[in-house]
Amino acid sequence: MNTRNVTVDPWSVDPDGIPGTALDACLRAAIAAPSIFNSQPWRFDPGHGFIDLYADRGRQLSVVDPGGRELAVSLGAALLNLRVAVLRHHRLPLTRLLPYPDRPDLVARVTLGPPAAPDATMLALYDAIPHRHTNRRPFTTVAIPPEVLGELRAAAGIEDATLAVLDEAGRREVLGVVRSAEVRLRGDPGYRAELTAWTSGEPQREDGVTRTEFGPWDALETLPLRDFGLTRPAEPRRDARFEPDPALIVLSTIGDTPEHWLRAGQALERTLLTATVRGLATTPMTQPLEIPELRALLTPTGSVGFPQVILRIGYGPASPTSARRPLAEVLIRR
Ligand SMILES: Cc1cc2nc3c(=O)[nH]c(=O)nc-3n(C[C@H](O)[C@H](O)[C@H](O)COP(=O)(O)O)c2cc1C
Repeated sequence: MNTRNVTVDPWSVDPDGIPGTALDACLRAAIAAPSIFNSQPWRFDPGHGFIDLYADRGRQLSVVDPGGRELAVSLGAALLNLRVAVLRHHRLPLTRLLPYPDRPDLVARVTLGPPAAPDATMLALYDAIPHRHTNRRPFTTVAIPPEVLGELRAAAGIEDATLAVLDEAGRREVLGVVRSAEVRLRGDPGYRAELTAWTSGEPQREDGVTRTEFGPWDALETLPLRDFGLTRPAEPRRDARFEPDPALIVLSTIGDTPEHWLRAGQALERTLLTATVRGLATTPMTQPLEIPELRALLTPTGSVGFPQVILRIGYGPASPTSARRPLAEVLIRR
């Protein structure tokens, strides 16, 4: 008879490296988060009564993200999922960002606080975690109700970020800057090499963006989505027409330090999960944020501070699930 589940603390790791049931569910929720190029730059170290989240610098993108901003945004997204999951498992998550200044790779400690009951919103966000995917397919032209946009704004606000929903002029301005960025990146041999390293024609790969997630080719180049198939022309892709007037939002923070990037990531994921609950599809479009001169141009009306993520949102067809590395690979063994 297997007695493991009755004898092992649900929040600890057993001597064979197997996490207890609650810890296992929380870590699986955390690693379902979005990350730049699906780089999954995280490691977890569960202690007595807390879970430490570390940056995995070996997975930082040296061309696209030399300063580690997008790595930190990705870690922030994983942290939000972890917090939501801890609460779902009836413990209050007490979070400290960058708890030790001399250990910058320990980006957060989530302490398991007193017993707590998740409210309906938290339950819905938790349930949305496995259903949130980056969607690179054409969206419909159906407008998003203002109250749903209000919910997205509130979701980002709870995590100390601001969401600007772009008007027609803002959309044109931002799409122009994204287009310039995509053109510049496509012409950069370093970018092409990094993209090649993090994309794959093999759907069985456990990280990076694989063929099934590239999305169709935008034959008319209406929408400057990042072209993940750029250096893999041999991969078969159908072409499609994308919506000419996508709904775009810009997520910004008041400062631009590693702590702000972690907050941006938490705000991003809370926004994405809220969008998922409301049946919306989402696509981050961050190319201009990777080129300092172009990032400086992104000051559309309604945005304040520093832009961290540009998001396309709308109603779209289902999109594929991306792969994740197994838990054993991201768990630090003592
Ligand atoms: C900081 C950040 C920037 C991203 N930038 C882009 C982007 O420019 N274009 C894009 O299609 N996806 C972008 N993504 C989405 C990732 O590629 C995606 O999260 C990853 O491939 C995993 O897939 P999933 O979101 O479906 O789980 C970004 C994600 C993060 C966290």
